[in-house]
Amino acid sequence: MVKKAVLPVAGFGSRMLPASKSIPKEMLPIVDRPAIEYVVKEAVRAGIKEIVLVTHSAKTAIEDYFDTQFELEQQLEEKGKAQLLAEVRDILPDGVSVISVRQNQALGLGHAVACAAPVVGDEPFAVLLPDVLVDCGGEAEDLGTMVANFHASGAAQIMVEAVPAHLVDRYGIVALEGNAPGRGECAPMVGIVEKPAADRAPSRLSVVGRYVLPANIMGILARTPPGAGGEIQLTDAIATLMQQQTVDAYSMRGRTFDCGNKAGYLQAVFHFATRHPELADVAKAMMVAEISENPADE
Ligand code: G1P
Repeated sequence: MVKKAVLPVAGFGSRMLPASKSIPKEMLPIVDRPAIEYVVKEAVRAGIKEIVLVTHSAKTAIEDYFDTQFELEQQLEEKGKAQLLAEVRDILPDGVSVISVRQNQALGLGHAVACAAPVVGDEPFAVLLPDVLVDCGGEAEDLGTMVANFHASGAAQIMVEAVPAHLVDRYGIVALEGNAPGRGECAPMVGIVEKPAADRAPSRLSVVGRYVLPANIMGILARTPPGAGGEIQLTDAIATLMQQQTVDAYSMRGRTFDCGNKAGYLQAVFHFATRHPELADVAKAMMVAEISENPADE
């Protein structure tokens, strides 16, 4: 059963500077909670019980956020602020724990995932890249479907979505035998390559940042040499895994928001503001008012 999720959070977030200079980019708020909370909650809704942060000494604010702040809770209790207290306590739902391991060298995503090997042990696990937020708009959630698929078939699951041809060199790109699977469906992969040039990409289906992987990927990662960009790539380890067992590309239903860059972050803030139970109406009215005062240039 998939009960563990690895979240690589050691990166510096240079695309979000200066905001990320002294706080981790994962702690930047999307409306009223840090981006990382959305990712952890997504994992928890998919049945994950252990969150493994692969982190760095400069990013302890993330671990602190998921720890109990006893003095704060006591103060909220004494002041009768029950609603706020419940929200603070719900940051990490009951029965879920957070464990952190350090990535002491920046050798790539594959290396980051391999750092979690002692905690993951001999179990299958999910990987969620924290830059990417996923919103399924209340429909069945993609990560939950991927976990259910893995339990049913045993095939590793790699979430994909189509990107424009000029963007393929920013992502892992998968190759399939036939057509792309319909939304919410999966199909066996026949290839995967990290950040190919547009004219060499096997498709336009990009790896989105959600994976469900068997335990043996850890051994493969330990033997994977540096690839694209001189980094140890998770993509390359998945290519090796494909030679041993079925790996499915899962075509996502939801929408993604890349909070690792400024435009994607802003879009996430706008989007999740319009979904917020208390702020949605006021947020939409503000957006309309702002546009009418500052119309976009023709
Ligand atoms: C990583 C992965 C890549 C994937 C991307 C999704 O790249 O290596 O395969 O498509 O995340 O966001 P990065 O964005 O860290 O360069």
